[in-house]
Amino acid sequence: MAKSRFIYTCNQCGYESSKWNGKCPSCGAWNSFEEEEASPAASTRGNSSQPVPDLSDKILELEQIGVDSDVRYDTGIGELNRVLGGGLVKGSLVLLGGEPGIGKSTILLQICQFLGEEHSILYVSGEESARQIKLRAQRLGVDTENLYILTSTDAEAVAETIASSAPDIAIIDSIQTMSIGRITSSPGSLTQVRECTNLFMHTAKNQEIPMIIVGHVNKDGAIAGPKVMEHIVDAVLYFEGERHQSYRLLRAVKNRFGSTNEIGVFEMRDKGLAEVENPSQMLLSGRPHNVSGTCVACVMEGSRPILAEVQALAAKTSYAAPRRMVTGFDFNRLNIIIAVLEKRLGIFMGTLDVYLNIVGGFRLDEPAGDLPVAMALYSGIMDKQIDEQLIAFGEIGLGGEIRSVSHIVQRIREAERMGFRTCIVPKQSMSAVDVSEFDIDIIPASSLKQAFSVIK
Ligand code: TYD
Ligand code: MG
Repeated sequence: MAKSRFIYTCNQCGYESSKWNGKCPSCGAWNSFEEEEASPAASTRGNSSQPVPDLSDKILELEQIGVDSDVRYDTGIGELNRVLGGGLVKGSLVLLGGEPGIGKSTILLQICQFLGEEHSILYVSGEESARQIKLRAQRLGVDTENLYILTSTDAEAVAETIASSAPDIAIIDSIQTMSIGRITSSPGSLTQVRECTNLFMHTAKNQEIPMIIVGHVNKDGAIAGPKVMEHIVDAVLYFEGERHQSYRLLRAVKNRFGSTNEIGVFEMRDKGLAEVENPSQMLLSGRPHNVSGTCVACVMEGSRPILAEVQALAAKTSYAAPRRMVTGFDFNRLNIIIAVLEKRLGIFMGTLDVYLNIVGGFRLDEPAGDLPVAMALYSGIMDKQIDEQLIAFGEIGLGGEIRSVSHIVQRIREAERMGFRTCIVPKQSMSAVDVSEFDIDIIPASSLKQAFSVIK
């Protein structure tokens, strides 16, 4: 049977089908299918009279390809440069994602001040009026003459304007407000987001300018319409953090021009986002004194060690099944640690509610966080204080053993730098450590029992 010349595409989610549907099987939208002419398959070229072009004269030797020495723009914000892999690359398209209100527009306006010293910037906003942007700029102390504002939601007109006005840098805030007139689906739908991103990608490459696109993330964590954007753009950065906590993490999820291991730490102040160069200090400030149930942990965020406080509280339950509540730590991981404490050390928690909190809204996502969590729990249940100058890290095995973790030297260094006196580390990792290098007591432990013996 001959293949149908038409395909039907859902204008809400981009789902393709060979027949028309009243309801989209993928996103559930009604009456959203549009008829499109199927693009001819690659093999049909063989039948046509046109010869296939020979591209051999377009092949370049790697050595012949010239690169400008000046390919990265310093944004003036060290933490952002770090996440970008050293600055904004010329001709690249960067997606800045995050929940609404997290601070995307704020940081972009802030970098305009520094970038504006030498470059012209076109800030396209589909969300705010020019007056609102001006007011925010005033508040942030942005008064550069090189910043131009355009309020529009017509993606094609915007791309055209960028080409004709030739700014050095362009910012699109946000992709969900942009739309292309000839596509019938509403702004923010998958088709619109994908086509607008493609359009801006061409603009960035043709004009050889860096472009930053803002993308809002919806509740389930994906940018609305958006996994499709991730593979089009050159770099994807996410802004994370609790809206009610003041600090924000900027994380690279994809970067064609740098590592995805780096994070940037910021704090939202009344005058915009400020870089936090010493996150450990910020997270440890305000620790309680003479209290049981707290222990300091060390997490590696990329190549950066960050110290955070773990707090545990165990209280008699009034339910048949005791409550377990966690913030900033994996719920199942906590249950495993509780099971290990019960089975291997005989510390029963069947009648206790357990609450665990990583202070500062931080997430302790690494196996190295197991030991400080177990220590905080033990300290809380036994009501024995842990020395305030003690830090611990290590993965806990189901046998109650402490297993090795990565980056041990960096972690110990950070503890030392922050003035800690004692450090409990996995015994297995000790081969990488030269004890004489450190001015901190290093206690190697191979089992939970051994680690707990330090708590007096
Ligand atoms: P915004 O950059 O508008 O978020 P997004 O563009 O990601 O949606 O950030 C707005 C939030 O930041 C808002 O809740 C208020 C807060 N904020 C400050 O605390 N201080 C400031 O100087 C600014 C400009 C915003
Ligand atoms: Mg915004």
